[in-house]
Amino acid sequence: MDRWEGRVAVVTGASSGIGKSIATELVERGMIVVGLARRVELVQDLSKSLAGRKGKLHAVKADVGKEDDVVEAFDWVRKNLGGVHVLVNNAGIAPHAPLSNLDRERYKAVQTCLDTNVMGVIMCSNEAIKLMRENGIDDGHIININSILGHFIHTRTGIHVYNATKHAVTVLTEGLRRELLEAKSKIRVTSISPGLVRTNIAESSGRPNAKEFMANRPIIRADDVTSSVIHALAAPPDVQIAEVIVRPVGEP
Ligand SMILES: NC(=O)c1ccc[n+]([C@@H]2O[C@H](COP(=O)([O-])OP(=O)(O)OC[C@H]3O[C@@H](n4cnc5c(N)ncnc54)[C@H](OP(=O)(O)O)[C@@H]3O)[C@@H](O)[C@H]2O)c1
Repeated sequence: MDRWEGRVAVVTGASSGIGKSIATELVERGMIVVGLARRVELVQDLSKSLAGRKGKLHAVKADVGKEDDVVEAFDWVRKNLGGVHVLVNNAGIAPHAPLSNLDRERYKAVQTCLDTNVMGVIMCSNEAIKLMRENGIDDGHIININSILGHFIHTRTGIHVYNATKHAVTVLTEGLRRELLEAKSKIRVTSISPGLVRTNIAESSGRPNAKEFMANRPIIRADDVTSSVIHALAAPPDVQIAEVIVRPVGEP
């Protein structure tokens, strides 16, 4: 990890759960981290709590599903820090959305899920790569926090919009890897697919019975996902950890 010290990482969804854990660990390891979230005040609080550590956390307010917010956030990075070396596309939501029983309110939730989980990944990756190229950074790294549901179709109903967005992340990760290969770029792309992780995702996505959803199931911690992020980043520059699946033991 030493080669990343003093370099810039953008982490989307740094206000909670997995993104908060990743942002914290990257700061501990000396990176200059830009944490994006809608609830920017939570990232500001985290930044204060990390004062005096090896690296630094900057809080920038952005809804990754909104084009203007994404462009402005990366402009902020351009003006204040120059380039970006690492992007962790972590922001995501998982609303309850039964496909045959959607009302107009639920359509909105579906749209927000598509915008956040898919458009957010597309737009942030594009802006990050643009900024890497502007600064001659050819050893950057894009890490997508995918899901086990990027690889399987869930047996439980109501989750298939989220399930589809994560399949999209699997395809987009591989598509980006191929484009970078074609461009003879050394920028690496990694998809990390967790099984169930103890975070607030069920509550923050407005799922009914959020607490029960997480209870009594095999579950891992946000820090376990962060360990996979560090593993991918710390690999030698000519090694690409393309796909990581990290699940709780006993997950069906
Ligand atoms: N928990 C699990 O079981 C699990 C399993 C597999 C994969 N994942 C994936 O892990 C990632 C992180 O989820 P989590 O479990 O840590 O959930 P979480 O605790 O609810 O955190 C989600 C983060 O995403 C941010 N976010 C949501 N919508 C956003 C938007 N439009 N713009 C910017 N930021 C947004 C939230 O920040 P604000 O609300 O402040 O904007 C928050 O920081 C997601 O991609 C999720 O799909 C989670």
